[in-house]
Amino acid sequence: MLELKEIYKTFNPNSPNEKRALNGVNLTLEAGDFVTIIGGNGAGKSTMLNAVAGVWPVDSGQVMIDGVDVTKLPEHKRAIYLGRVFQDPMNGTATDMEIEENLAIAYRRGQSRGLRWGITAKEREWYKELLKTLDLGLETRLRAKVGLLSGGQRQALTLLMATLKKPKLLLLDEHTAALDPKTAAKVLELSDRMIEENGLTALMVTHNMKDAIAHGNRLIMMSNGRIILDIKGEEKQKLTVEDLLQKFSVASGSEFVNDRALLG
Ligand SMILES: Nc1ncnc2c1ncn2[C@@H]1O[C@H](COP(=O)(O)OP(=O)(O)O)[C@@H](O)[C@H]1O
Ligand SMILES: [Mg+2]
Repeated sequence: MLELKEIYKTFNPNSPNEKRALNGVNLTLEAGDFVTIIGGNGAGKSTMLNAVAGVWPVDSGQVMIDGVDVTKLPEHKRAIYLGRVFQDPMNGTATDMEIEENLAIAYRRGQSRGLRWGITAKEREWYKELLKTLDLGLETRLRAKVGLLSGGQRQALTLLMATLKKPKLLLLDEHTAALDPKTAAKVLELSDRMIEENGLTALMVTHNMKDAIAHGNRLIMMSNGRIILDIKGEEKQKLTVEDLLQKFSVASGSEFVNDRALLG
């Protein structure tokens, strides 16, 4: 479903701020893989997701989504393949618009502009049903402005919008990090369910090792722009946080314990 081949990306090349953020990343995902990604601050996790989304061109390497070479496609042309949810709840939804308008925008994504905008009664019923599954009481608030919602409600809505068109790939970048623990757990559970029910292929960055172990069928760890660990199947199911700390120090040659970002 996704293939990254020898991806390199350096920011601010030939300047004092030069930073090689991706240093030969190789990753192949099967359809239905749900991969959690951990690694210290600046390891290249977000940069890898941005390389998939085409936020900027990579320096070298190849990005394939479902057999299509998208390496040279700009971000807006890859968007049809992708659903994305970021850390900031303000990011994924339009504050000044109603819940149903936000959903309608997500639903019309990739359709020609000539299409009529009006939300049909049938569509509205469908949105209500979908919102009900979030279990946040939003199904009675279709006309409420999104700006009135809590961070957790907005992330849940963003998740719904990101999966509405069943994307080839769902990219989650610390999408629960800004939420309180209880809300974060709820949004995580919701993410699990949406990935499962829609049979999605997903990449989820988290700084929480317990979450990384508990969710998905595969776990990768990044350090210095590289994937240094890739654990799946039964081995992943048996993983403990202690194992991860141990494996990190062996694979990277440095102490994981010093990296506070990973001990969330
Ligand atoms: N747009 C950018 N411009 C310059 N440097 C960047 C940019 N994006 C990321 N970087 C740098 O690349 C490195 C990897 O960043 P990132 O992928 O965001 O790490 P993380 O694993 O914490 O998500 C960091 O040193 C970061 O400062
Ligand atoms: Mg990041």
